[in-house]
Amino acid sequence: DKVTISVIKADIGGWPGHSRVHPQLVETAEEVLSKAVEEGTLIDFYVATCGDDLQLIMTHKKGVDSPEVHGLAWKAFEEATKVAKELGLYGAGQDLLKDAFSGNVRGMGPGVAEMEITLRKSEPIVTFHMDKTEPGAFNLPIFRMFADPFNTAGLVIDPNMHMGFRFEVWDILKHKRVILNTPEEVYDLLALIGAKSRYVIKRVYPKEGHKIAKDEPVAVVSTEKLYEIAGEYVGKDDPVAIVRAQSGLPALGEVLEPFAFPHLVSGWMRGSHNGPVMPVPMHQANPTRFDGPPRVVALGWQISPEGKLVGPVDLFDDPAFDGARQKAVEIAEYIRRHGPFEPHRLPLEDMEYTTLPGVLKRLEDRFEKIE
Ligand code: 13P
Ligand code: 13P
Ligand code: MG
Ligand code: MG
Ligand code: MG
Ligand code: MG
Repeated sequence: DKVTISVIKADIGGWPGHSRVHPQLVETAEEVLSKAVEEGTLIDFYVATCGDDLQLIMTHKKGVDSPEVHGLAWKAFEEATKVAKELGLYGAGQDLLKDAFSGNVRGMGPGVAEMEITLRKSEPIVTFHMDKTEPGAFNLPIFRMFADPFNTAGLVIDPNMHMGFRFEVWDILKHKRVILNTPEEVYDLLALIGAKSRYVIKRVYPKEGHKIAKDEPVAVVSTEKLYEIAGEYVGKDDPVAIVRAQSGLPALGEVLEPFAFPHLVSGWMRGSHNGPVMPVPMHQANPTRFDGPPRVVALGWQISPEGKLVGPVDLFDDPAFDGARQKAVEIAEYIRRHGPFEPHRLPLEDMEYTTLPGVLKRLEDRFEKIE
């Protein structure tokens, strides 16, 4: 008996600028999803926010890529966009790139992370929500959770995890994927996912012989690349992820531990800068300084036997992460002093908009050959 957890998110208007989601958008989405619970499409839902991104967390029995559930998310975003337009919010409908829904929100702008799972006796999960960054921002923390013994003690001391995991990595430029086994292929895996703007972890699976069937994901990340879809700048993807925890998987604290280090990610101002990702509770996920720095929220849940979302627990609402937040402020201060210079500003090919072609065109006649 399987349950599907779907996290579908979109930026449908910021308040003000790209800072946060207006509460009326949350209420509108809640109304749409409440009806869907009454009608039996959903078992349960929660509407969360991270920065200017509206996050629909849903449980149901329809499986992944369900036209019904995706259509419902699309409808919630459309209804909320109407409100965003009435309020004159910034970039109303920003991530809704198509006019009509055609069965699946993939490729239409919203970000999606979904997994269909056989509920264990107790099913602790964490949903992660990031703003002002890209899906590759999850590469380092997901790697550390499932493959780094200095992060996850269980890889060494828990016989149920000792065999390691399988990583599904997507080449988001060539639209290809590869599965790599850890610990055997750890260096190959790192050779790919260190290049985080190109190779992104999409899913993690257990290996043969694990308590969980080997085709059931234990982690999944949204990988939509908005600028490729739209062919122009429409904001970084601001990704989400779902991670299962405990009994043969990383413990809750091992799932959270990577975020004690505010690693550098790309996004931030105009989707064109490197900066630290700051772990925060939801009420602090309102990026303002230079439109950032990037944020990550972690919501903890237990899934009840009938598929209800018991939570959320706002997991970074813990003084134990104060040090990471302070470090992120220090790194932000340091890297900001570089102004328009790399590596604060992204290299040309990774920037989401640039004046360079125009500048080069204007200077065309003034460039002289160097003898
Ligand atoms: P408890 O003894 O509190 O259940 O903790 C077990 C554990 O594995 C913590 O990481
Ligand atoms: P969002 O992707 O969060 O809308 O941010 C866009 C941006 O340009 C921030 O400076
Ligand atoms: Mg925005
Ligand atoms: Mg955003
Ligand atoms: Mg965005
Ligand atoms: Mg216990």
